[in-house]
Amino acid sequence: MSIITGWTRVFEKFLSPFPKIIELYGLYYNKVVKNEIELGNITCRDRVLCIGGGSLPCTAIKIARQTGAKVYVIDNDPAAVKAADKVIRGLNLHNKIKIIFSDGSEVDPKDFTVVHIALQVFPKDIILKHILRKAREGTKILMRIPKEGLKNSYSNVSVNFSSTSLQYTEQKGTTMKATVLFIKEEGKKSEEKASAFYNRDSSVNVTSMVV
Ligand SMILES: C[S@@+](CC[C@H](N)C(=O)[O-])C[C@H]1O[C@@H](n2cnc3c(N)ncnc32)[C@H](O)[C@@H]1O
Repeated sequence: MSIITGWTRVFEKFLSPFPKIIELYGLYYNKVVKNEIELGNITCRDRVLCIGGGSLPCTAIKIARQTGAKVYVIDNDPAAVKAADKVIRGLNLHNKIKIIFSDGSEVDPKDFTVVHIALQVFPKDIILKHILRKAREGTKILMRIPKEGLKNSYSNVSVNFSSTSLQYTEQKGTTMKATVLFIKEEGKKSEEKASAFYNRDSSVNVTSMVV
């Protein structure tokens, strides 16, 4: 874990008992999540899995509030799960958002139409392969990619932003360069529009990134 990801984790834990500050901290995610909702075309009919919600699951809160979708949040830190569950109950969102202890490399994504992978999550390459392998066809995967200068501070996958088939939204004014959209599609040729697809020989075959 890098200093930045460790710091974010501790900072969120520290803020989680203070509801007013949570809303303030959440402002950082307003535009970020709005961009992601547009990129993934998330609606109230979606079932969303957020991998790496932290003690303050702001991304999940924004998605649930802005789209009406049911959101499941996982985190592999038991203390973050406990704190986040308290936050969600305090905001009276427990009917819309569920907090679960699990790891992104083991979670079963079959019941979800959208999977969101937070910036601090690691190891991203293994988790992306796992989700692409296990998710149903058509599942959309949104992954946050760090800014160029912060690449060494986060787990990352290599993405070719000059590829015309890559679907992404820039995240200006944040620690992220962009959020990238991958779609689980079986049996399609790499020239086709999907930015990523998983094929039957069990390898991740991505038109625009090296996993
Ligand atoms: C600090 S949070 C930041 C997320 C932010 N609050 C949001 O709403 O987008 C990132 C969390 O990811 C969790 N995490 C990192 N790797 C993970 C993995 N492989 N599976 C599940 N959770 C993970 C960490 O425990 C941490 O709590």
